[in-house]
Amino acid sequence: MSESHSHADDSVISARGGWAAPSSTPPSNPPIYQTTAFDLDGLDQLAEIVSGKQNGYIYTRDGNPNQSAFAEDVARLEHAEDGEVGASGMGVISALFMSHCQSGDHVLAARVLYGRTVQLLQQIERSFGVKVTFFDANAPETLADLVRPETKLCLLEGISNPLMEVADLPAVIQAVGKVPVIVDNTFATPILQKPIELGASAVVHSASKYLNGHGDVMMGVIVGDKYIVRRTRQFLTLFGANGNPLESWLGSRGLRTLPLRMKQVSQTAQILAEWLSSHPKVTRVYYPGLSSHPSHQIALQLLPNGFGGMLSFDLAAGKEGVNPFLKSLHGTIPFSPTLADARTTLSYPTGTSHKFMTAEERAAYGIGDGLVRLSIGLEDAASLQADLESAFDRL
Ligand SMILES: Cc1ncc(COP(=O)(O)O)c(C=O)c1O
Repeated sequence: MSESHSHADDSVISARGGWAAPSSTPPSNPPIYQTTAFDLDGLDQLAEIVSGKQNGYIYTRDGNPNQSAFAEDVARLEHAEDGEVGASGMGVISALFMSHCQSGDHVLAARVLYGRTVQLLQQIERSFGVKVTFFDANAPETLADLVRPETKLCLLEGISNPLMEVADLPAVIQAVGKVPVIVDNTFATPILQKPIELGASAVVHSASKYLNGHGDVMMGVIVGDKYIVRRTRQFLTLFGANGNPLESWLGSRGLRTLPLRMKQVSQTAQILAEWLSSHPKVTRVYYPGLSSHPSHQIALQLLPNGFGGMLSFDLAAGKEGVNPFLKSLHGTIPFSPTLADARTTLSYPTGTSHKFMTAEERAAYGIGDGLVRLSIGLEDAASLQADLESAFDRL
């Protein structure tokens, strides 16, 4: 018990608590700095921290040791200069665009992206007068003609959601010249691909996914060029879309097993993709590790450590087969509109991540009404195969 609290009245004890300096033996893992603010010893210290002369934190919306720990680890994994955490992947992507574009500016975005990212870009176009041109990431040779003097950013996903197309990043980066290329690396993670090594300016992640890997966090992160990160950080803190200590701490814990998890899910996904390819109740499988996938050759070059844990397939029964299939899997492979959990989950892009597109847009992108998406978890391939087979049997 600390001296100052031993004879304090109840109001002081309960308001101030008894926490004192850490013990002389540091904890093996970082503590969770679950605090709104940090106590300052005076105005001189405040000035020194604000000017960067002294390291320190002031207010958790502007920064917190757990956020720094997570962002720095992701930056190191991605070979980036700097990083910042946000409240979600969408929080980070929104802050990135809002901080880099103003009315009259132009951005390039791949035509197959996470549905909410497309919706965000359309909203920015409508509300803020930023022009967006959607391009075909499979045809980087068309890109150079789309660049304008006012083009501020170019966004694409390394492995696209939900068709698993692998972008020819070096060709895209070359085609757009000086325009900063931002890669959403949520599906590949830095274990399978490091876009900054290939010339991208920054990388964004839904850290709610593989980086954390346990389906219990909502968080985003941006890493890359320090000026891009700095501008994005300013908007994240202004909009209050910053990360928080507990999520960051969980994210850091998730990172400890990221390489093992990515290796495992890539192996299992390859086995299942091959099995599904010859299944009579499946008409097409989308997995870059299959030689039938349009991106297979580029995937061999750009994803030398594995093709990831995400795969989609078209049910032969089409749209009518989807709900019975999902219901049959209830209790084994849950229908859950997320990905990269430790358990295998199933999603239906038409009803979840891509429901904001019109049926015509989805059809133009090749997202069929019978397309289901599997996020492979850490279960053995044989168990997953048995679960899926029993659901196919009931179709
Ligand atoms: C590729 C990709 N990018 C971004 C996001 C958005 O991330 P969040 O859900 O953390 O906002 C998602 C979400 O599923 C995603 O799949």
